[in-house]
Amino acid sequence: MTKILVTGGTGYIGSHTVVELQQAGYQVVIIDNLSNSNIKVLDGIYNITGIRPEFVQGDVTDIVTLRHLFETHRDIKGIINFAASKAVGESVQKPILYYRNNLVSLLNLLELMPEYGVKGIVFSSSCTVYGEPDVNPIDETAPIKPATSPYGNTKQISEEIITDTIHSGAPIKSIILRYFNPVGAHPSGEIGELPLGVPNNLIPYLTQTAAGIRERLTVFGDDYNTPDGSCIRDFIDVVDLAKAHVVAMQRMLDNEDTDPVEIFNLGTGHGLSVLELIDSFQRATGVNVPYVIGPRREGDIEQIWAIPDKANKVLGWVADTPIDQTMQNAWRWQCRITGR
Ligand code: NAD
Ligand code: UFG
Repeated sequence: MTKILVTGGTGYIGSHTVVELQQAGYQVVIIDNLSNSNIKVLDGIYNITGIRPEFVQGDVTDIVTLRHLFETHRDIKGIINFAASKAVGESVQKPILYYRNNLVSLLNLLELMPEYGVKGIVFSSSCTVYGEPDVNPIDETAPIKPATSPYGNTKQISEEIITDTIHSGAPIKSIILRYFNPVGAHPSGEIGELPLGVPNNLIPYLTQTAAGIRERLTVFGDDYNTPDGSCIRDFIDVVDLAKAHVVAMQRMLDNEDTDPVEIFNLGTGHGLSVLELIDSFQRATGVNVPYVIGPRREGDIEQIWAIPDKANKVLGWVADTPIDQTMQNAWRWQCRITGR
């Protein structure tokens, strides 16, 4: 069995990916410092797959811990690096925390990979690297715009660090995945997103409002230059997203002749507005979501959605979960964590 290290594997996207990796026959070791996740996620993974992944509670920015992990697991062949801090607003307040956490963790992994014979790393990047696109939808050749937050900048710098390291001749490969907007939860209701405190992102705020935890959802702006005036995003089901990591890993490890660095957009190819998403949630679940229109949120991008053709063709992967099903899964998970 091929052994994969998943950093940040108890987090939102990480936990769904661990499930898909295990179901595809990979052996998984997780390292997570639990700064933004809960150890109980391991039970959820076990309930779905019947396998409890090996878990190391540790910090990827700590090279001593990491070295010890690689000494213990000398047969790790690939890494998926989810471990990072991800709140855009917080990154503006605490830039040093974001640069240290997101960059030092990546540097440590890249430094140790050749020493321990680890062949490839899949990296979690974001469509935030494109900024506000000149045209939509966008493919991987769209220009990278100056980052509007330290968080976004860590993703741009990380992509450059990976590219420079591999171009320098390091004997490793990488697949950089630019996620659009991951939403939803595992259909089993066993794992999902666990936001700490008041959520910043649309779906957790929406499901908490539907559950009565928040009084109402505020739609940030209805005066954008879009058909209904609200922002447009490419909402991608988290299980579809997780599956892309499995095919990316297979490609990187099993194919000798692929480029050492490859970049893929991971999206559905369809843009949906915030108001359309609220509609879809209400239609799919039959649950009402009280909302008001508020002012625009500073720094928001008006509209962005992907051309996922490269991932569709090269990885043979497609995000095809209907949005209504994704909304039902998000609601099932919200009901589970609020004990409804
Ligand atoms: P998450 O916060 O749920 O998961 C990240 C996990 O990493 C958490 O479990 C956290 O405890 C852990 N972690 C953070 N720093 C660590 C460190 N130094 N050492 C060990 N563990 C550490 O976030 P997520 O939504 O699952 O995102 C995963 C990755 O995908 C991140 O790199 C994020 O930037 C990227 N991404 C997320 C989105 C999104 O909308 N969720 C969009 C684009 C890119
Ligand atoms: N929104 C609301 N009300 C809310 C929350 C969000 O109207 O309470 C709107 C936002 O204005 C935006 C859309 O819903 O138009 C999506 O907002 P999110 O915060 O869910 O997602 P973003 O597109 O702003 O950002 C997300 C991640 C970033 C990542 C980016 C691109 O939070 O980390 O996707 O991958 F960089």
